Amino acid sequence: MRNQRKLAPLAAVAVLAMSLAACSGGGSGGGATGGGGGGDAANNLDGRGPITYVQGKDNSNVVRPLIDKWNAAHPTEKVTFKEQTDNANQQHDDLVQNFQAKNPNYDVVDVDVIWTAEFAAKGWLQPLKDKLAFDTTGILPATVATATYKDTMYAAPQTSDGGLLYYRKDLVPTPPKTWAEMMSMCSIAKAHNIDCYAGQFAQYEGLTVNAAEAINTQGGTVVDKSGAPTVNTAEAKAGLQRLVDGFKDGNIPKQAITYQEEQGRQSFENGKLLFLRNWPYVYNLAKTDGSSTVKNTFGVAPLPGISGPGASSLGGHNIAMSVYGTHKATALDFMKFMTGEETEKFYATQGSLAPVRASLYSDATLVKQLPYLPVLLTSIEHAVPRPVTPFYPAVTQAIQVNSYAALKGDKTVDQAMTDMQAAIGAAGSQ
Ligand code: GLC
Repeated sequence: MRNQRKLAPLAAVAVLAMSLAACSGGGSGGGATGGGGGGDAANNLDGRGPITYVQGKDNSNVVRPLIDKWNAAHPTEKVTFKEQTDNANQQHDDLVQNFQAKNPNYDVVDVDVIWTAEFAAKGWLQPLKDKLAFDTTGILPATVATATYKDTMYAAPQTSDGGLLYYRKDLVPTPPKTWAEMMSMCSIAKAHNIDCYAGQFAQYEGLTVNAAEAINTQGGTVVDKSGAPTVNTAEAKAGLQRLVDGFKDGNIPKQAITYQEEQGRQSFENGKLLFLRNWPYVYNLAKTDGSSTVKNTFGVAPLPGISGPGASSLGGHNIAMSVYGTHKATALDFMKFMTGEETEKFYATQGSLAPVRASLYSDATLVKQLPYLPVLLTSIEHAVPRPVTPFYPAVTQAIQVNSYAALKGDKTVDQAMTDMQAAIGAAGSQ
């Protein structure tokens, strides 16, 4: 996927961006916004008018109703939804291409927590300060950190994400607390002719999430505080080895090497998987999908660890303003709307997404409806961020390529970690 990026006709994107800009220039709003390029746009903070919001596939069906609500109340500042695919790498590459082309129509964008540093360092995100300052009162500190680069906020926390263990409570009344316990329960899967465990193991960002979780859970780390790689250690190797062993002995089914979030969810909902590592969005869909066969038979537990709970990778999504947009006052209001208390509650009740507002995790009515909330809060509060660096694409590539090779049996874990260590080191000096 990443290599194909080079083949993308950037010039065509630029031409498209220019013609789109020409179209929207004549649209409503009537102000003297736009004009020449990013520099001017970055300085004009008062523009109002129609904007576009860009986000990955809205699996949880929360974005459209929110935009409808916004549009009904803001007839001259309507938001158009540009929906990307459900693959994190493709979402990233689409944003990069459009920022590089200075597309003025990517006004407000969804930024995965791991992209903040890269996009901010490239100068693509409008700093949220002074006139555009964003109030972070009541927002979980870990999520604010993911929206901050070099002490400046470049995005507003929108939804958080912590890994959870989905399990079949009809087959396993008490969920496993440790990885070893979970592996020993795979005999139950076998007896029922279903697969035992899956996470996200296709070669994309989800694999970085899962590999980092295995490493961190084992007491290892991916990088140290200075960003230097630390994967060439016994702990990190033992972490990856657990996943490799899972594939070898069949406790992780072969086809899981192709799984992103959605494939694992489908398998679990079809009743073909005993344990699934996934994000909170699965809760709502597994409960409400017409085709879900596990509606009343699944439970949610913390990720299993070595002697207690495992370490989740910190996931989540922030909402940010492109420097190239021309209607920044509207953009900021829309960002506030998309992260306000009521909207955050809607994310939880409608899509079982993880709110970024701390108070919602102890809201009695919410906890009654969504009993997994306390488990989720613990997962998020103990979650380990992936490396924070403007060179993140090369770092994640180093993690993905090498852990994938180990999972497939193309490299020993030892070799994979040696290579990963070197490649992360090289990424930082790009
Ligand atoms: C989820 C997480 C995000 C992560 C992605 C990987 O969307 O919120 O942080 O990068 O999954 O697939």
